[in-house]
Amino acid sequence: MKIIVAGTGYVGLVHAAVCSEYGHEVYAYDIDGPKIEDFASGRSERIEQHVNEPGLANIIRETIGRSLFFSEEIQPIIEGTDAIFLCLPTPPNLDGSTNLTFYDAATEDIAQSLATRKDHRRVVLVNKSTVPIGTARRLEHTLKDAGVPNFGVASNPEFLAEGSAVVDARKPDRVVVGCDTQEDFTILSRVYSQFINHVRIKYIETTPETAEAIKYVANTMLLTYISFWNGVGAKIGEKIPNISIDDLRLGVTSDERISTWGSFVSNGAGGSCFGKDIASLINQLRRVNVSTKMLEASYEVNEYQKVYLIDRAITEAGFKFNNKTVAVLGLAFKKHTNDMRDASSIKVIESLLGKGVAAINAYDPLANDSARVVFDPSKNILFEKIRYFESARQAMADTQALFISSDCEEFRGISRTIEDTVKPPYLVIDGRRMIPDFGELVTKEYTYLSVGSTVMTPG
Ligand code: UDX
Repeated sequence: MKIIVAGTGYVGLVHAAVCSEYGHEVYAYDIDGPKIEDFASGRSERIEQHVNEPGLANIIRETIGRSLFFSEEIQPIIEGTDAIFLCLPTPPNLDGSTNLTFYDAATEDIAQSLATRKDHRRVVLVNKSTVPIGTARRLEHTLKDAGVPNFGVASNPEFLAEGSAVVDARKPDRVVVGCDTQEDFTILSRVYSQFINHVRIKYIETTPETAEAIKYVANTMLLTYISFWNGVGAKIGEKIPNISIDDLRLGVTSDERISTWGSFVSNGAGGSCFGKDIASLINQLRRVNVSTKMLEASYEVNEYQKVYLIDRAITEAGFKFNNKTVAVLGLAFKKHTNDMRDASSIKVIESLLGKGVAAINAYDPLANDSARVVFDPSKNILFEKIRYFESARQAMADTQALFISSDCEEFRGISRTIEDTVKPPYLVIDGRRMIPDFGELVTKEYTYLSVGSTVMTPG
């Protein structure tokens, strides 16, 4: 099949690469010329400065020029196309609604181009990045208004998680395809022929609106599950004596109906999807007068979770942040990524600066550079207090407290580094329960404060 993927963020580039692996003729199209040149170079370091997903650069190197092509113009590649996947940025507006400005501009351009095709074969335009319920219908109007002949619209939401996007795209749990006609279902079943009649992968054909809703319900349910553990499980462990949150989790999730994923209590879930999607769904449901109490609670628990450990440090551990130097370890929203979008560390650092800390010593194995962009001192003079280090050990030196804000594996063994680097009295705030041997630290007079447990003070 001849496929165009419009938009080369992590959803678009991964989709284009994986489709090219399966032998389709794929054109990855983006109006960002320099970015397209970087991808077309086939060089890992140039590709990975835009999208850094394990295995992705290898696929691009292997298929480029054979089944994968890059273009910054739509017109030269439009003839003979079977499907155009729209993987465009959809940032949030201030009220939580989805900003469709980029989406509308791109789809209008594509519609103009499709209207002038010489070849009138059936083409399906497919929304792949997350867009509000009803956007396929909006797309249909754009194409009709431009006079595009013989087209269909579809929704085929993406469920990739960052860091495992290539694996997820090759072996998804399900492929959801929402179309209006059998002809369009057939075109997409040829694009996804490797997943049809698969023993494990569910291939679900439905209406475009249902497909759009599946993505929102899935993401908001995942966040709600995390918020349930953070808002209920973690609080039981923090407020009621003699509760082990780890045993609580094990006991509850031993029921095969209850997932282990999401039961790891934390100082909040971040990333490009969860916060944005729940805010958008709240906005969409308010417009049709549906109560959004449950979604609002899930969102609020998650936001509260990002900063409440700093308040606990003050009230439960008696710590005074004023003029102290604090190490913050783990800046990205999770391990194995340099993505800072909606990362809990942003709220943590802003809150610490608000409490008057003298300096913040920051460290992340991958995200120091992207953190520098987020914490730009020209936006907030207080960001000048942030210093970046190349290791956790260096970041901890001469600090009086430590905050672990992400789940990087290297933090699991950090207790010995703490003992070697800083002397008690010293406060360890563990936002991800990353230190299994915290008992050793407490024995050695360190104070340990973690999500899901009562504060542990020496003596
Ligand atoms: C998510 C969805 O998983 C994916 O299906 C969707 O397409 C996009 O959004 P992603 O944003 O890459 O993917 O991250 P994910 O691995 O789901 O983690 C989201 C956040 O939840 C991270 O901050 C993570 O650390 C946190 N999390 C996850 C927890 O706090 N506890 C957990 O048990 C699991």
